[in-house]
Amino acid sequence: MNNDVLSAVINVDVKGPTISRHLYGHFAEHLGRCIYGGFYVGEDSDIPNAGGIRLDVVEALRALNIPNLRWPGGCFADEYHWMDGIGPKDRRPAMVNTHWGNVEENNHFGTHEFMALCELLGAEPYINGNVGSGTVKEMSDWVEYLTRDGDSPMVRLRKANGRDEPWRVRFWGIGNEAWGCGGNMTAQHYADEARRYATFCRDHGGNRLHRIAAGANSDDYAWTETLMKTLGHLGCARRPGGFFQALSLHYYTIPGTWDDKGDATVFGTDDYYRTMVQAARTDELLTGHSNVMDCYDPTKTVGLVMDEWGTWWNVEPGTDPGFLHQQNTLRDALVASLHFDIFHRHAARLVMANIAQTVNVLQAMILTDPDSGALVLTPTYHVFEMNKGHQDAASLRVDLLSDVPAREVGTDTLATVSLSASRKDDRMLISLSNLDAADAADVELDLRGGRVEEVTSRILTAGSLQTCNTPETPAAVAPRPHDQVKSTGTVLRVHLPAHSFVTVEGRLA
Ligand code: AHR
Repeated sequence: MNNDVLSAVINVDVKGPTISRHLYGHFAEHLGRCIYGGFYVGEDSDIPNAGGIRLDVVEALRALNIPNLRWPGGCFADEYHWMDGIGPKDRRPAMVNTHWGNVEENNHFGTHEFMALCELLGAEPYINGNVGSGTVKEMSDWVEYLTRDGDSPMVRLRKANGRDEPWRVRFWGIGNEAWGCGGNMTAQHYADEARRYATFCRDHGGNRLHRIAAGANSDDYAWTETLMKTLGHLGCARRPGGFFQALSLHYYTIPGTWDDKGDATVFGTDDYYRTMVQAARTDELLTGHSNVMDCYDPTKTVGLVMDEWGTWWNVEPGTDPGFLHQQNTLRDALVASLHFDIFHRHAARLVMANIAQTVNVLQAMILTDPDSGALVLTPTYHVFEMNKGHQDAASLRVDLLSDVPAREVGTDTLATVSLSASRKDDRMLISLSNLDAADAADVELDLRGGRVEEVTSRILTAGSLQTCNTPETPAAVAPRPHDQVKSTGTVLRVHLPAHSFVTVEGRLA
């Protein structure tokens, strides 16, 4: 047993960088059952829907304050031709989704359906354009179709398809994974292409695009450096008229190999710790890419967008290998809670993050049963819900006064307690994860510069790390009140059972 108490100080009156709500962003690709059967069931479905969009999915995501949704991919984005997805559905041409299962895509979920989904969710759209197999004109026309007011060829087409008013679309991806499925380009070639594409993605009327260049894979710092050299100075990010406002980064938590990533639900303690070591690498990666960006952009005007992250396991037995359908256990929840602590610490540079993916694919929030249609909220969903108070809050620095409990995992050391804190007006939210599979931990937080009152706490844990939610046991992993928090007003003592995620909230006086 580990009986040491971790001591830390939080200066509640010293506000750090704002934690953008967009760090809690999402991703929906035309992949497996994410769109069809997940978000979209069609107007004739028995499942309650609005224009084919599942209303129970919408309700569940609204409860997370879902800030944005990235679409249509991923790899799919670079073979998607948006004009195939507008107009009467029975006249939309089909295509083959060559990346994901080689299935036919009927294009029934297209631009108008996606924008309707975002409106129902109250989420900002993040559209990823096609550089790999598209043209500059195609991307330029899409921006015009979506965002231009008044009269123009694309505006007339949009109006003919039933939408008079332009939409507001800020987030715009210039290709995806250009180093791989997005065209297998070199960094320099992509950077030059991206300049051309971005030039013709215009700011129409009052719409200001936030152009996101397709960034690095994992620890490819050279890619980030090339983009910063070639695009960074064009950025003048967040300044109207700049060509680039952000670069992306993709990193998945995979403790095995690409050929055998490990099973989502059948795993041992060693597999678990290896997973957490891989998840914790996100801190090293964000630090590394931020350091490169700092060299070219010390005032942090270009944002970093981690628009694909999360666990990637072997697919569930019996499902299409190209559909990336996986279960989600308490282990996935702890991967998510650890990521959020890391994201909060990098809030000065990291402006957006999108977990992959929202429904039925990879580390999903929601799983829907293909036969009964039943909807299940995953353990990961609950971390997003418990943490939503951090959205747009000021981060609070946590200074450790004692050593963090740790475990040796092969040649790595895993800190087994992770925490982060924020405040919004007079509300404080502290998130704490105990990653230890077996031992409880106690944390003593010395709050300086203020007192906390009306303290409440919730916990997410289960009998085992392998526990997951299913249609038969939908609440096997669900938050419940946590009564093991003691407060003097200026000192909080929090007990963390083994493999648990705890949030503590209070009013600052
Ligand atoms: O999220 C699944 C895939 O992972 C995306 O399509 C791609 O961008 C990444 O390789």
